[in-house]
Amino acid sequence: MKLDKLFKIVLTFVFAIVITNCHLIQPLSVYVHVVRYVHDFFNNTCIIFLHASDNPSETQDLKIGLDLKKLQFQFSGSGIRMAIMSVNVFVAEIGVAYYHIKRPLFVLLNDSDELRQGFADVAGWIDMSYPTWLIFFGNGTKIETYFDTLYIPFDCEFMVAQTQNDITEITEVYRVDRNSSLLTSNFGFISLTEDTDIKRKGLYDRRNNLHGKYLRVGVTHNPSISELIKDDDQNVISVEGYFGVLSELLQQRMNCTMTFYEIDEWDFVLETGKSAGVMSLLGNKTLDLALGPIAITEKRLEVAEFTIPLFVTRYTTYIKRPLESVVKWEGYMAPFKAGIWTAIALIILISSGMISCAKSLSKMWSSHVNDLEHSPSKFNHILLLVFGAFCNQGIQPSLLDPVRIIHLIVHLTAVVVVAAYSAALISFLAVKTISMPFTTMAGLLEDNTYDFAVVANSSEFYFCSTTLDFVVKSIYEKKLRDNSNLPTSYEDGLKRLCKEEKYAFMLPEHQYQIFKSKLDCIIEPLDSTMQASIGMPVSMRSPYRGVINSVLLIIKNGGILQRVLNARFYNVKGISHRDSWVSVEIGDVVVLNVILLLGIILGLLILYVERSFPPKTNDRTINIAKVIKTKAARAKEF
Ligand SMILES: *[C@@H]1O[C@H](CO)[C@@H](O)[C@H](O)[C@H]1NC(C)=O
Ligand SMILES: *[C@@H]1O[C@H](CO)[C@@H](O)[C@H](O)[C@H]1NC(C)=O
Ligand SMILES: *[C@@H]1O[C@H](CO)[C@@H](O)[C@H](O)[C@H]1NC(C)=O
Repeated sequence: MKLDKLFKIVLTFVFAIVITNCHLIQPLSVYVHVVRYVHDFFNNTCIIFLHASDNPSETQDLKIGLDLKKLQFQFSGSGIRMAIMSVNVFVAEIGVAYYHIKRPLFVLLNDSDELRQGFADVAGWIDMSYPTWLIFFGNGTKIETYFDTLYIPFDCEFMVAQTQNDITEITEVYRVDRNSSLLTSNFGFISLTEDTDIKRKGLYDRRNNLHGKYLRVGVTHNPSISELIKDDDQNVISVEGYFGVLSELLQQRMNCTMTFYEIDEWDFVLETGKSAGVMSLLGNKTLDLALGPIAITEKRLEVAEFTIPLFVTRYTTYIKRPLESVVKWEGYMAPFKAGIWTAIALIILISSGMISCAKSLSKMWSSHVNDLEHSPSKFNHILLLVFGAFCNQGIQPSLLDPVRIIHLIVHLTAVVVVAAYSAALISFLAVKTISMPFTTMAGLLEDNTYDFAVVANSSEFYFCSTTLDFVVKSIYEKKLRDNSNLPTSYEDGLKRLCKEEKYAFMLPEHQYQIFKSKLDCIIEPLDSTMQASIGMPVSMRSPYRGVINSVLLIIKNGGILQRVLNARFYNVKGISHRDSWVSVEIGDVVVLNVILLLGIILGLLILYVERSFPPKTNDRTINIAKVIKTKAARAKEF
C-alpha cells in the first residue's frame, strides 16, 4: 500500500516536471475547440502538442500542469490519439520516425521564443509539408516578425491561430521559396459561440500562384516533342512542340517563369553508376524540373520524384518487313462460303432447267411459237447462257413471257451476287498479309538469327535488364548485355534497322511516331511487351510537385493534354496522308494473271484445233440466215 502511494506521488511529480514551463496562452476551451476543428478539417489521425522545455528547474506551476492534463483528457476522451511532449523529447524519441505517423497534426502551444527556437531546429530536418501545423499566438505577436527567419515551404500547411473575443482567426503562412517574402492568407474564423467560417477549398485551390518564381527547367532537343529555340548566344529562349505547349500552360496557370537549360542527355541512371545529365542535376537540386518524355523507372525514383504520368507509352519491337508477300490462292474463293457457291450452282442449274422446261411446254401447246422463237432451247446451251448471266453477260432475249420472267430473275440474282463478290474480293485483296518470320518476342528468341537492339543506356535497356518476363530477359542476356555496338539515338537505331537485314529494334511508341515519316523502309511491329508511364521528374521533395500535379490534372481532365498530344505527336509534320493508302501489289493479283494467261492459251489452242479441223456444217451461220429470213417474212406481213 505504501509503495503504491509513493509510486503515485512520484508519478505526479514526474508529470509536473514534464509539463512545467509550457504555457497555455489562451483559455483551455479555445485550444480544445480550435485544435479539434482543425483536426477534423484535415482528417489528421494523431495530434502531437509540442512545448518548449522540459527543464524542471524553473517555476513548477501545477495549474498549468492541470490544464494540460485536462487538455489530454478532452482529446483522449473523444478517442483522438494525441501526445504532449517537448520539442527535445520529440527529437530524441521520435526523430525521423515521424514518417510512421499518418497525417499528423503538430500543435505548437505558444509563440514563446524558446519554442520558436526549438521549432526552427526541427524545421531544419523535418519534411515540413508532411504534417499539418498549428500554432497559437498571443495577443501582441505579429506574424511577420515571428516568421521573419523561418522558412515555411510552398506546399506546407501551416496555420496560425490568433484569438480575440472568442473568435479565432486562422491564417495560413508560406513562402514561395527561401528568399521570397512571407505570404499569408486568411483560412477562416473559428468561433466558440457562433458558426465557424472556414474556406472549404483544397490546398492547391487556395495556393496555385507562384508569384512569378523562376523555375529552372532542364530540356533536351527532341524534334516535335521539345524543339529548342535559341538566341545568338545559344541560350534556350523557348521550347516548342508538345512540351513547349505544356510548359506554356504551366507557366500561365502557376504564374511562374521557366528558365530553360539545355541538357544533352537524360542520364538514365543505370546500375553502372553513371551520373550526369538531367536526373543527377535534379538529384542535387540544380534543376527544379525537367521537360521531356522521361519514363518513370524505379532507379530514377531514387534520385528524383515524378509528376503524375502525362501519358502511357508502349515499347514495341520492329523488324523490317519481309520482301515477299503471300500469294492468296484461296483469295478468289474466299469471299463466299461453300454454301453460297453451292446455292449459286443450284440456281444456275434450276433456272436453266426451268427455262428449257418452259420452252418445251410452250412448243407443245402452240406450234407457231417454234417459228418465232429462235433463242437456243438445248439444256446445255441454256446452262451456258445462264452461267454467262452470272458473269455479267447478256442472254439472248426470248419472245416467251415465262422465259423472260425467269431471265429477269436470273439477271437480278446475278447482279446482286456479282456486286457482293466484287466488294468482298476487293477488301480481301486490299488487306495485306505479310509472311512475317515471327510476330512475337518469343518468336524472335526462338529464331535467334536476328540482332536485337535498343538505344544504349535508355530506359528500355533498363527495363530489359530488370524485367521479370522470361522471354525479354533471355533476349537481354543473349543480345544486349554484352553488346557494345548499340545505337546511340532512336534515329540511329531506325537507320540501322533499315540498312541491316536481320535487325530487331525496340523503341517507345511515341518515338516511333516521330520518326516514322523519315523512314526509308517499311517496318513491322512485333507484339508489344512492356508499358511505361511518361512523366516529368522534379527534384526530390520539391515544394512545387503538388501544384504542378494539380495543374496537370486540370489540363489533363480538360482533355487539353490529349489534344496537344494528338496534334503534336501523332500528326508530325511531313507525314502525308498517302501513307494510309494501301496499294495492291503484284503478288496479290498473281492468281488473276495466271487465270488470264491460262484462258488465252486455252483460247489459242481451241482456235488452232478449229482451224486445223474445220467442222462440216456451220450451225451458227445457218441459224443467222434463218433469223434474217423470218424477220424479212414478218416485215412482209405488215
Ligand atoms: C476529410 O474527410 C472528409 C470526409 O471523408 C472529406 O470530405 C474532406 O475533404 C477531408 N479533408 C481533407 C483536408 O482531406
Ligand atoms: C488577450 O486578450 C484577451 C482579451 O481580448 C485577454 O483576456 C487575454 O488575457 C489576453 N492574453 C494575453 C496573453 O495577453
Ligand atoms: C504573377 O506574379 C507577378 C510577380 O510577382 C505578380 O506581379 C502578378 O500579379 C501575378 N499574377 C497573378 C495573376 O497573380
